[in-house]
Amino acid sequence: MTHTKHFLDLNQFETSKLREILGYGSQLKSGEISGRPLEGKSLAMIFEKPSTRTRVSFEVGINQLGGNAVLLDPSSSQMGHGETIADTARVLSRFVDAIMIRTSSEEILHELAEYATVPVINGLTDESHPCQLMADVMTYEEHRGAIAGKTVTWCGDGNNVASSWIHAATRFDFELKLATPAELAPNQKVLDWAQSQGGKISVTCSMDEAVQDSDCIVADTWVSMGDKDAANRHNLLKPYQVDERVMSLAKSDALFMHCLPAHRGEEVVAEVIDGPQSVVFDEAENRLHAQKGILYWCMSNL
Ligand code: CP
Ligand code: NVA
Repeated sequence: MTHTKHFLDLNQFETSKLREILGYGSQLKSGEISGRPLEGKSLAMIFEKPSTRTRVSFEVGINQLGGNAVLLDPSSSQMGHGETIADTARVLSRFVDAIMIRTSSEEILHELAEYATVPVINGLTDESHPCQLMADVMTYEEHRGAIAGKTVTWCGDGNNVASSWIHAATRFDFELKLATPAELAPNQKVLDWAQSQGGKISVTCSMDEAVQDSDCIVADTWVSMGDKDAANRHNLLKPYQVDERVMSLAKSDALFMHCLPAHRGEEVVAEVIDGPQSVVFDEAENRLHAQKGILYWCMSNL
């Protein structure tokens, strides 16, 4: 039943497959692959959480490839009124050629993938954000060349995006240093997986140690969608703000990355996110190109 072309998490792919998919994204961006390869195909998009980039980039992306998108809002569809995920998956599979879902729960994502007979794409869960990392690797490499062998530092909450950075570091062979408060350490299962694969991952509470000589500094919101303890998180994460002093400890040509949405004066100061080392809007744009690569891989008869 399981479709082989789900895009659920980076750790489920060999490096060569991720490179192939990223390659499609770059070729679509440059025009090497052109035309409307997904003419007439439909993508269902389910958002159980808010979104700007993911929503717009998937809809524009499938349109540019010749297909169309159908948006499902759980509160105004039967999904939010008791229809099971399994039945939703079976029904949508009769109408559309792929399903993108943003949901809190990994279980919902996996149940959808189990019962759908079309590809399912993870548009963010509480555990991961793989599409973001495809765009981030594309962005780093466009600016600085191969990411393999480089050092990236994650500053702040060991959250869903941090987990996908751990997956990406392991698959794309770069070193990842995570600076997080002990209370918000990265997911231990993800760290264990990385260790089992020989990933070069380290976790520390010391921001200064982690950013030293790094090639890329990454931050994310202190309060992710669904987090309830905002005040406590602000207290814990205050020492992990990326400011000019932090950037000065990294390499002089280090990039600053952030998946957005950002909160200036919280996880990053305006001088850094709006400064010359920041590539955050290239990252946002590359959501479109990287996801077109994913859609092309999932939905065309390759
Ligand atoms: N980075 C990202 O996924 O943004 P949205 O929440 O706006 O989709
Ligand atoms: N960690 C953030 C990422 C938003 C794109 C969240 O889950 O809200």
